[in-house]
Amino acid sequence: MEPNNQNSDFYVKSKESQNKTLDPKSIFEEFLTSKRIFKNKEALSSAFVPDEITHRNNEIVMLSKIVAPSLLFERISNVLVYGFSGTGKSLVTKYVGKNLASAAEEKKVNVLPVYINCRLENNNTEYRLISNLCGVFNINVPESGLSVNSLYKRLVKILDAENKYLILILDEIEKLIQHAGDGVLYSLLRLNESLKHAKISIIGISNNIDLKASLDQRVRSSLNPVEIIFKPYNADEIYDILKVRSNEAFYDNAISDGVLRKSAAIVAQEHGDIRKALDLLKVAGETTQQLGLSSITEESLDSAAESLEQNITEGMIKSMTKQSKCVLLSIISVARTKRMGKVYSGEVYDAYLKLSDKFGLKKLTFRRVSDLIADMDYNSLVMSRIKSHGRYGRTRELNIAFSVSIINKAENIIKDELN
Ligand SMILES: Nc1ncnc2c1ncn2[C@@H]1O[C@H](COP(=O)(O)OP(=O)(O)OP(=O)(O)O)[C@@H](O)[C@H]1O
Ligand SMILES: [Mg+2]
Repeated sequence: MEPNNQNSDFYVKSKESQNKTLDPKSIFEEFLTSKRIFKNKEALSSAFVPDEITHRNNEIVMLSKIVAPSLLFERISNVLVYGFSGTGKSLVTKYVGKNLASAAEEKKVNVLPVYINCRLENNNTEYRLISNLCGVFNINVPESGLSVNSLYKRLVKILDAENKYLILILDEIEKLIQHAGDGVLYSLLRLNESLKHAKISIIGISNNIDLKASLDQRVRSSLNPVEIIFKPYNADEIYDILKVRSNEAFYDNAISDGVLRKSAAIVAQEHGDIRKALDLLKVAGETTQQLGLSSITEESLDSAAESLEQNITEGMIKSMTKQSKCVLLSIISVARTKRMGKVYSGEVYDAYLKLSDKFGLKKLTFRRVSDLIADMDYNSLVMSRIKSHGRYGRTRELNIAFSVSIINKAENIIKDELN
């Protein structure tokens, strides 16, 4: 049926263009001859393994020295590797693990580094983790049905039969502990008592710096880890890392030194997360390509930074508990009365008491609200510092850390979810 369009001129025109058959080849041709930005976009994905690891030599040396005695089949210390997101913990630990495996093969020593990411494939349950380990030794284990104890027994048997030194790299180990409890680590290390010659050591990786303190005393003393801390990269280091990655990812001249420096500066302000820096370059490159331009402008970079920040902030706010949302809303509402200037935790708490009432939430103590603010600081939603002893004891001075353009949106998301 023809639409009853009052504007007949428009109708005829659109009918004409609809009747004309478009040639997809012309679209393909246009795409192929348009200015290309990316030589290898994959190089900007965080899963891409770079040939070079820059600015992490100290950490590589430290970790390598700790694991080296395993090549003489001597017991090594367990290790905990800490640092903020995107500081190269997984990259460096896997790199050392891979080199240890090849050194062991060369020297014909039975050392076996095994890397498991506890966030993936339900590796956060004890059953799944141990059955995956059994899988490494080709022991077939059903998805469920056996007792965990019998899995441990099979593991001990095969480790002893093959006379292996298992160096278990547990990445994002906090996910395992949150889900399965820290007793798994204890059980794994206790296997050493049942093993005749074989051995097990653990290298845990986490971005929770308080992980060791949160472990049960019994687990902490059996793990007794050496701790390695990955400091956030500064702007110059981020620049060097991005330079190598962008050489691989972009065609010559698609990205200028100025844009790279600016990207590094943006990311350095927030704990130097290389993953964010790579995302930034990817989104800016995509915008540039869509606009048909041949090189990334500072404007595309700014808009990429804003859209990424918006996505990250939104995601983070959505995943917060109701209480944290209420605290953040209190911070925003106090900040508004001060034209987004500094606010103090005492004022935030007063606003929180009213809002928690309004939304029917249980009232938390000042101390607890301060802890929630500290978590937001850790996640870069606010910047805070302990200032003085005020009405409620220690007072924090804080600023909202995300940009003003996102505040309205954040406020609406929170109100929607609390109502
Ligand atoms: N020194 C470096 N040189 C080259 N690339 C790096 C370096 N550090 C990190 N990267 C790259 O940055 C990205 C993030 O690194 P990685 O995954 O190791 O971070 P992480 O510290 O494990 O973060 P998370 O805590 O979120 O797991 C990866 O793509 C990695 O290749
Ligand atoms: Mg990691």
